[in-house]
Amino acid sequence: MSSPGADPAPARLLIRDLAQLATPERRTAPLRGAALGAVKVIEGAYVLCDQERIIDVGAMRDLAPLADDLEELDGRGLSAIPGLVDCHTHACFAGDRVGEFALRASGASYEELHAASGGILSTVRATRDAGEAGLVRALERHVSWMLRAGTTTFEAKSGYGLNRETELAQLRAIRAAGGIPTWLGAHTVPPEFTDAGPAAYVDFLLAEVLPDAARIAEAADIFLERGAFGVEDSRRYLEACRGTGLELRLHGDQFSEAGAIPLAIELGARSVDHLESTGPDGIAALAASDVVGVLLPASALFLGRPMPPGRALAEAGAAIALATDFNPGSAFCESLPLICSLACTQLGLSPEQALTACTVNAAHVLARADRKGRLAPGYDADIVLVDADDWRHLAYHLGGPVAHTVLRAGRVV
Ligand code: NIG
Ligand code: FE
Repeated sequence: MSSPGADPAPARLLIRDLAQLATPERRTAPLRGAALGAVKVIEGAYVLCDQERIIDVGAMRDLAPLADDLEELDGRGLSAIPGLVDCHTHACFAGDRVGEFALRASGASYEELHAASGGILSTVRATRDAGEAGLVRALERHVSWMLRAGTTTFEAKSGYGLNRETELAQLRAIRAAGGIPTWLGAHTVPPEFTDAGPAAYVDFLLAEVLPDAARIAEAADIFLERGAFGVEDSRRYLEACRGTGLELRLHGDQFSEAGAIPLAIELGARSVDHLESTGPDGIAALAASDVVGVLLPASALFLGRPMPPGRALAEAGAAIALATDFNPGSAFCESLPLICSLACTQLGLSPEQALTACTVNAAHVLARADRKGRLAPGYDADIVLVDADDWRHLAYHLGGPVAHTVLRAGRVV
């Protein structure tokens, strides 16, 4: 996330007299099993930052005397947690789908609207029409919402261009906004390829878009689902993407178990995301693999769909992460604190498991767990001060203004 014109981080910053500090305890990511819920809590705590890095955390009573060329931030009544990491968003879109939302409220289903060229394709029309400058403006607005809610690191996908020009414009806009771009060329089949079909569209993507997309994006993603892309086209697309050095992600098991988990494991994907339809075999397979299951409870809630099996996955030992899926159709929601609430109330996770899932495990999905997602020396000074003397208000305060102060790279934003 960029902040043009912002002041540099102070040389040294002490956040002092915090009611609590909470951080995932273990360093090795992704955390799973007992380590998923292992959160270290320090009562009466401080965090010391040197420019954009954390250099020390501890209890106030152990704080050694410090030189006085130090900026201080009063943490009384507040609790520090790591800056939140949103590893699955579609935040780079133009327009909205409030009309579709109203239609769904009176009974239309998301899949019906999609099949009738509404849904994703209506955002494709708006995004193509916006032009790159318009897209940058829309994304900046969305990013400001995310930041206000405590997200200091975010991924965003293309997938609303579905042609060469707009897919690449989306990826550039995401980079320019400080996000981590994922190429989702295979989000759905665009109108130009309705007659030719998904295989012909994948041929086009691989020949015409992948070479340039691979220079901007860090990962590739595909919507493997009935009505979108099948296993064979997905394998071909993902193998070609992997050949250019991109990490692999999949949208899978959102409406049906169409083969996403076996393919993700076969290809060594970083993650498979959604999982609202995953049954016992998928849970067991995922738990035995290194693929992270990214749970998106806002989209299940927003579409009135079953929740993904969060507790069953955690108990089976799967590596899980939580994300917003922020997009105009299935999850118009930028708030990771709200996702933590849903994780605890709907998915059966503890506040500790939820915190780990949207910090260090989400950072692992984005290949940044060595620097992001924990409050410990050497990590980036990305910090959220929760507006409560118990950090678990992160999940407890349903839809509340949880983030009192947000720091990114050692600077209050
Ligand atoms: O993750 N399911 C596919 N893609 C998005 C929704 C995109 C949209 O509706 O615009 C998702 O839910
Ligand atoms: Fe998504």
